[in-house]
Amino acid sequence: MKVIDVGCGAGKDLSRLESMVESIGEVVGLDISKEMVECANARMSSLPNVSVLCANATAIPFAEDYFDACRCERLLQHVPQPSEVIEEMVRVTKTGGRISITDIDWWSSTISMETESGERINNAITRGVVFNPNPSVGRHIRAHMSRTKKIVELDMFAQCLFTDTLAQADELLWLGERGKMAVQQNVISEDDYILWRQELEKMEEEGSFVFTINLYTVSGTISK
Ligand SMILES: C[S@@+](CC[C@H](N)C(=O)[O-])C[C@H]1O[C@@H](n2cnc3c(N)ncnc32)[C@H](O)[C@@H]1O
Repeated sequence: MKVIDVGCGAGKDLSRLESMVESIGEVVGLDISKEMVECANARMSSLPNVSVLCANATAIPFAEDYFDACRCERLLQHVPQPSEVIEEMVRVTKTGGRISITDIDWWSSTISMETESGERINNAITRGVVFNPNPSVGRHIRAHMSRTKKIVELDMFAQCLFTDTLAQADELLWLGERGKMAVQQNVISEDDYILWRQELEKMEEEGSFVFTINLYTVSGTISK
C-alpha cells in the first residue's frame, strides 16, 4: 500500500506506518516546515521506502488517486481553510481508499477550578487566546468531511485526554503558555494571570488539579 501522512511534523508516526505497509509499500511524509522535514528525513534514513517532502497540504505534489490511504494529525488547526486540505487529501486518495483526520478542540479545555474568579480567567484564556487559525477544529472534522460528499462510511472516535499534573498540562497542552499569551493579547491582566497561576499551584498541592481536553479522529472511505 501507498500511504501519506500530511503535516507529518518530525515524523513520529512514519515508522509505524512503515511497519504497516512493510517493505513492499511506500510511505510519504509531507510538511510545510523545512526544519520538520529535515528532522523527519534524518529519523527515517534507515527506511528506504519512506520519503519526506516539503510542501503545502493545499497542493500535495502527487497525481490523483496515487495513495491507498491518507492521514493527518493536528494539522487542520494550523490551516486557514481546512476544507482545502481535505479536498486535496481526497484528490490524491483512490476510490475505496481510506482517509483519517485527527485534531484537538482547544476550546474544550477544562480545569477543575472551584472559584468563580478562577473559572472566569480560565474561560477567558480558553476562548480568547488566538494562537492558531482553527482552535476548535476537532469538533468540526466530521462536518468538514461529510460536506465533501466524497467520503462515505464516516467513523468517529473521540477521546477526553486528562492530566492531574500542572507540569504535563504546561508541557503537552500549553496551559501556562496560553496564560502568558492571554496577557500579551490583553485577554486577561497580569494580575489575573498571577491569581490564576497561584490557584492552579494550590490546586496541584492539595491534589485537586484536573485538566481535560477533547481529541477527535474521523475516518472514512473515498467514494468519488
Ligand atoms: C502540531 S504539528 C503535528 C505534527 C504531527 N502530525 C504529529 O502529530 O506529531 C503540525 C504540523 O503541521 C505542519 N503544517 C502546518 N501547516 C501546514 C501546511 N499548510 N501544509 C503542510 N504542513 C503544515 C507544521 O509544520 C507542523 O509540523
